[in-house]
Amino acid sequence: MLTKEFTQSVWILILSVIAVASLSLLAWVLPNLFTKSELVKNSTAKPFTALQLAGRDIYISEGCANCHSQMVRPLAAEVARYGRFTTAEDDIYEYPNLWGSKRTGPDLANLGRKYSYQWHEAHLRDPRAVVPTSIMPAYPWLFEKRLSGERIGRKMEVLRSLGVPYTDAEIDRARLEVRNKTYAQALIAYLQSLGE
Ligand code: HEC
Repeated sequence: MLTKEFTQSVWILILSVIAVASLSLLAWVLPNLFTKSELVKNSTAKPFTALQLAGRDIYISEGCANCHSQMVRPLAAEVARYGRFTTAEDDIYEYPNLWGSKRTGPDLANLGRKYSYQWHEAHLRDPRAVVPTSIMPAYPWLFEKRLSGERIGRKMEVLRSLGVPYTDAEIDRARLEVRNKTYAQALIAYLQSLGE
């Protein structure tokens, strides 16, 4: 038989745990809801161009994010290998973010201009051609498939409603910018914009 006092102290314990846990929730979560404009002010991130944005979609649909993270942690070893560590300011235009928790290949957060366009072409066509020990799959079809650009303007409008500052002019010319480009052209435009 549980005594009345016992049941009472169990309830007090449960309620105190909830009270303490909600305090930490308030302290960690609430400030973030109000610091967004600060983030935007301190950020050097640029919105993706229409072509880069199309490339980002290909990056997601081809599953590149399954092997590559885009978040350098603030640890000495990571910074030595991948460069500047990622902060909240870097990700203000990332919908969804592509941080990732698994690295079969290297982190790509600061990839930017590390390689030339030609290097990326050769690497995507056949990774073993440039890195003999690579286990990355080849993506030859990216050079055959072409984008129609049909939905890119609409997509930019949606991103604008989430706070990405696209102008009407950028949205109007998005379709022409993307139309008829190969998947590889868009993907490489995206890869070369990382970390800038
Ligand atoms: C099965 C896992 C896997 C997948 C999927 C994958 N990669 Fe990789 N990637 C690797 C590995 C391993 C390396 C390191 C060897 C090399 O450079 O090829 C690498 C290297 C790279 C590099 C060079 C990074 C550097 O800093 O040297 C780039 C760029 C890259 N991958 C882009 C991509 C893109 C774009 C896709 C999707 C089209 C993709 N990867 C899909 C495993 C993967």
